[in-house]
Amino acid sequence: MTIDLSATDFWALPLADRAQAFAELRALDHPAFFAEPETPFAEKGPGYYALARYADVVEASKNPAVFCSGNGATSIPDLPVEFNEYFGSMINMDDPRHARLRRIVSRAFTPRMIAGFEDSVRQVAGEIVDDLLKTGPCDFVRHVAARLPLKIICDMMGIPDDQFETVLAHSNTILSGADPEFLTEDLDEAVTRLLTAGQQLAELVTDLSEHYQNDTLVTSLVTANIDGERLTPAELASFFILLVVAGNETTRTALSHALVLLTEHEDQRALLLADFENRIEGTVEEIVRYSSPVIYMRRTLTQDHTMNGHAYREGDKAVLFYYSANRDERVFADPDRFDITRSPNPHVGFGGAGPHFCLGAHLARREITVMLRELLTRVPRIRAGEPDRLLSSFVNGIKRLPCDF
Ligand code: HEM
Repeated sequence: MTIDLSATDFWALPLADRAQAFAELRALDHPAFFAEPETPFAEKGPGYYALARYADVVEASKNPAVFCSGNGATSIPDLPVEFNEYFGSMINMDDPRHARLRRIVSRAFTPRMIAGFEDSVRQVAGEIVDDLLKTGPCDFVRHVAARLPLKIICDMMGIPDDQFETVLAHSNTILSGADPEFLTEDLDEAVTRLLTAGQQLAELVTDLSEHYQNDTLVTSLVTANIDGERLTPAELASFFILLVVAGNETTRTALSHALVLLTEHEDQRALLLADFENRIEGTVEEIVRYSSPVIYMRRTLTQDHTMNGHAYREGDKAVLFYYSANRDERVFADPDRFDITRSPNPHVGFGGAGPHFCLGAHLARREITVMLRELLTRVPRIRAGEPDRLLSSFVNGIKRLPCDF
């Protein structure tokens, strides 16, 4: 098949075909080069190298001086200036500024802090399953997978319950990729919708910061001091948007794939249920490896550089395909097999080791663990139907997922 990672249609292919295409890219001698995708918000850029192999993704991640994020990490085209106000936070920055911003929030995300509100995660997961049992067969994404991460990140931020639906809707729009359900094909209209979503989340955080209460992440952001300066309203807004969007869409995606995978692989479900406490950790890692909720991040070369035999030029764009690295047959035996006992499992679903490694990895692992424990012990017969997938090259999302039990 002719592979074009920039074609919207590529991302609508069945997942097995997508996996096969990446296997072909990994088999090439050099990273494949692609012209940039059409986008509603930017001029077409120079194109990019697709880093499909594990070794390339890992090495680029740990060499941020050469593979930088400051020109944009979450989109292949450079973001236009008007987007930076809302979408330009630390994921799109380099050290030292990135490190200073990251320090402000990282204390809220240590394993100890996350363990501290395990009870609250358990309580929310319990209520979600209570409601599921009352509702009966339904859309798993809406009734289960979306609810837990939304409630947890909103509580951390101090966002009131009556704003949850608004937050979810804007966060969906921001990560809607090319999906026509969220963004129209009219390019101007699409840009307006994205900026409106950003603006409304920004207004929400401004409002919260004016009436802030003790001990929320918004409080630490508002009172944070970087280089003797406070965060500007725009920095506060984009930080908040990053945390809300990253905290929501990814964990929801992982939970939705979890139900699909444990439906398609009955033997793995039985294995997990036979010794839940000892096997859940490996299961969560394998779900993240196999589904790779975040498909890629981008880097830009700050200088000419040779990596694994390929010479890059200053200014080149390199796109780190975690989805493909996680199936690299050089690292993972039988990579297309979903195997909850896989060990070791050095996947890069949360990014490669480096300064941008997922800040929420501990939190996401706890959320997935607690939700699956609650779900599979109380509703062990739950099964997924056919997923309605999000059309996106960035998030391996599922919009709707019928479930039955
Ligand atoms: C299964 C769930 C999740 C997956 C698969 C995931 C994946 C990722 C990936 C691939 C990156 C980029 C790493 C890099 O560029 O090297 C990242 C960064 C990030 N993630 Fe997550 N994530 C998840 C959950 C969360 C949660 C729950 C939060 C909570 C707020 C979060 C917050 C962040 C932030 C703030 C960054 C940027 C870190 C930085 O630039 O220093 N993520 N995540």
